[in-house]
Amino acid sequence: MKQLQAAGPQMGSVKPASSARQILVSISAIASRVAANPGLTVKEDAAPLFTSFKIGKYELQHRVIMAPLTRCRAPNNLPVPDMATYYAQRASLGGLIISEGTVISEQARGYPNTPGIWTAEQVAAWQPVTQAVRDRGGVFFCQLWHVGRASHPDYQLGGAAPVSASAVPVGDGSVVFTPRSEACPFPTPRALQLDEIPGLVQQFVDAARNAIAAGFHGVEMRPAAAAAVDAWCERQHGGCAGCMLQTATSLTNSGRTTPTSARMLTEAALQTRPG
Ligand SMILES: Cc1cc2nc3c(=O)[nH]c(=O)nc-3n(C[C@H](O)[C@H](O)[C@H](O)COP(=O)(O)O)c2cc1C
Repeated sequence: MKQLQAAGPQMGSVKPASSARQILVSISAIASRVAANPGLTVKEDAAPLFTSFKIGKYELQHRVIMAPLTRCRAPNNLPVPDMATYYAQRASLGGLIISEGTVISEQARGYPNTPGIWTAEQVAAWQPVTQAVRDRGGVFFCQLWHVGRASHPDYQLGGAAPVSASAVPVGDGSVVFTPRSEACPFPTPRALQLDEIPGLVQQFVDAARNAIAAGFHGVEMRPAAAAAVDAWCERQHGGCAGCMLQTATSLTNSGRTTPTSARMLTEAALQTRPG
């Protein structure tokens, strides 16, 4: 096996970078070399970017991680064959890719043409995509996404209001794109009730199981940009105290007596498929 000689100070053909742009270009050049040479391994004395890193049970061989990027190219929430090419092109031996935000239920949708992970058909359509990354030695996590209030009634069953922690719309002046890509103001969401929270948690758990069945190595919850989980973490949008407490408890509690949603999610992901 070849070793990656050109990392850090011994960077070979990549010259020392002196500006942010040059650094980005250098990282991009390095990432391309890693992606183009699946047989590369990393020397122990390589720069930190090229040292290994353990995440869960996976030993990453470098720290060039592909961030999740929504692509809106999966009509009817179904992954398409082109996605296997797209992700394989970005995969490298022992390199981590976080998938584009992948919606966990019909209720979770809020952007046009985003892939889903709640039906058997979607799981089957993901399999060649995850296999393509595995074939290149990559580690592939599925980013689980419930958009919460960042949705529109056109995505919801029966044209219902999107759900969130409280009935507070996204108010930053941005717009939501309907399934037909029409830009609209964000609607006022419906605040979830306490007894609905287990159902929301279950959506994440089911999606995590499906992701593993689809061939992903792990999952990441998307807790940003008005997403369902994010809303509870923001004090001003936290909704009723009971809901906030239950969600916060179930997401962060490391207590060992009751199963928490975070533990349930992790267990769901780790139970099933090895490697
Ligand atoms: C087109 C686009 C799509 C994105 N999609 C997602 C996404 O699906 N999930 C997510 O968590 N972040 C998403 N992001 C955020 C990126 O993953 C990243 O965190 C962000 O661009 C900041 O990274 P930077 O500081 O390296 O620029 C997206 C960003 C862009 C520009």
